[in-house]
Amino acid sequence: MAVAISGIDLNRPDPATHGALVDALHENLVLCVRGQSLTPVAFRDAMARFGTPVQRKQLAATPECAEVNIISSEDRDELGDGKKLVNGASWHTDDSFMREPCSLTMLYGVIVPSRGGDTQFVNMYAAYEALPAETRARIDGLKVIHRYQSSRQTNRVSQRPAEEMAAMPEATHPLVRTHPETGRKALYLNANRMEQVVGLERAESDALLDALIAHAIEPRFQYRHAWQRGDVVIWDNRCTMHKANADYPEDERRLMHRVIVAGTAPV
Ligand code: OGA
Ligand code: MN
Repeated sequence: MAVAISGIDLNRPDPATHGALVDALHENLVLCVRGQSLTPVAFRDAMARFGTPVQRKQLAATPECAEVNIISSEDRDELGDGKKLVNGASWHTDDSFMREPCSLTMLYGVIVPSRGGDTQFVNMYAAYEALPAETRARIDGLKVIHRYQSSRQTNRVSQRPAEEMAAMPEATHPLVRTHPETGRKALYLNANRMEQVVGLERAESDALLDALIAHAIEPRFQYRHAWQRGDVVIWDNRCTMHKANADYPEDERRLMHRVIVAGTAPV
């Protein structure tokens, strides 16, 4: 899993290169394009070639471009306890509490710490394929309820205004999804947003979800991205999970620009 390429400038679109990038993403699930220098608008425009950028209110946006969000070492839970908030600190796939989660996420390393702050990924095709046949048969038709603030959550998520929380969707997704473009099956888990397996008692549901998460995050399915300034990392949320690490020196900054593109309801 994962491939890094250099020598292209995302400011200068080229159809042949773009086709090769899409193929590389489908084959490798995580694609890093090194050495970029992009204004927020140029970043949004480059990512718009992969899909339709969508806005999410849960994160701050750049003043220059509303579709470019900010992930920063300075993030705080402004409406909650005001404390530092590490977005994505536990294993997750983006937006799974939405009925139509984003398909791809792109992060652009604007300021990266001298050490630490890696993003980890797991290959959810491989995690699914490595399950015993009887487990695959058991989970193939199951569905899971996902929530923005799940009672199983493993890291804090930002408080949102009451009216936004009231309107926050709840989504029921298959535990095993079929990627709409590659046709391959992948486990679809989110440690921070899954509430309960539909039709199972709470204890049985918790045991199944805990076991599947423990399996999926085994080192053999992982790739760990050590950031360089100027990296654009694109990942496919339909067949991966990822996790942020806030283990960099406290006096160092980490600033990422982020774009997501629209996806379809998982099936
Ligand atoms: C995200 C995310 C991880 C990181 O942007 O969705 O989880 O390492 N980021 O910042
Ligand atoms: Mn994330």
